[in-house]
Amino acid sequence: MKRLRVNGFELAYRDEHSGEESGAPIVFLLAFPLNQSMWDDQVKALRDRHRVITFDWRGFGGSALGSESTTIDRFADDLAGLLNQLGIERAIVCGLSMGGYAAFAFYRKYAEKVSAIILADTRAKADSDEGKKARYDLAELVRKSGPSALVEMMIPRLLGATTLHSNRQIAERIRKMIESNAAEGIAQASLAMSARRDSTDLLERIDCPSLVVVGAEDKLIPQSEAKEMSGMIRNAEFEVISGAGHLANIEQSDAFNFVITKFITAL
Ligand code: MLT
Repeated sequence: MKRLRVNGFELAYRDEHSGEESGAPIVFLLAFPLNQSMWDDQVKALRDRHRVITFDWRGFGGSALGSESTTIDRFADDLAGLLNQLGIERAIVCGLSMGGYAAFAFYRKYAEKVSAIILADTRAKADSDEGKKARYDLAELVRKSGPSALVEMMIPRLLGATTLHSNRQIAERIRKMIESNAAEGIAQASLAMSARRDSTDLLERIDCPSLVVVGAEDKLIPQSEAKEMSGMIRNAEFEVISGAGHLANIEQSDAFNFVITKFITAL
């Protein structure tokens, strides 16, 4: 893993390419509370044809927390700083769940840097009051009891029934990712999500090629909501991944890679 200094902290990232790639660069934005290894299957599938960037948000995986508190807008600025240092002017941005919230924030501020956007298992709406309260509770829990305290609660929410019944290895991989994170990084990101702005107004202003993807068994983002969101983005494509829950790119990586490859190959 490589590191560079961005906005006052050390950020851990991967920048994979074959040297002969012909497609546009693609950057993947990770979900809460995981780390950049969640994108391993996508890196393997795409790196021969694209320059593929993954990284850990401030406070996650190998990245330091930074001295300023985490906000979704700061995530967007960190991404801009990373692309800038890597000399990438425009990239395809693919965000899953919290990564999607950050993709909206990035588009709002840096639309000229986005050549296409992939919004996976995410929503444009802000949290309800009840949702905010759950984020505060989660932040308190993780600060008090550490990341392991989240594992039993989160895995059944993140994974679909198909994965839960037939693939314990994936649950194990998720547990390791959650436990790789610092408690304070998770707590701050939970509070940052609760404070994020509603991006519904942005949808009609997205004018780059767009793809909305959702797992058919996603318990956090109903398929109907993802479809409605895609209908609000001009010419957005919409794909449902069967047999996958919220972490569609991990649970059904071949199907996920197929739909994103089809989308980016047609750009
Ligand atoms: C994620 O997968 O990033 C989180 O589940 C997002 C959320 O809790 O809203």
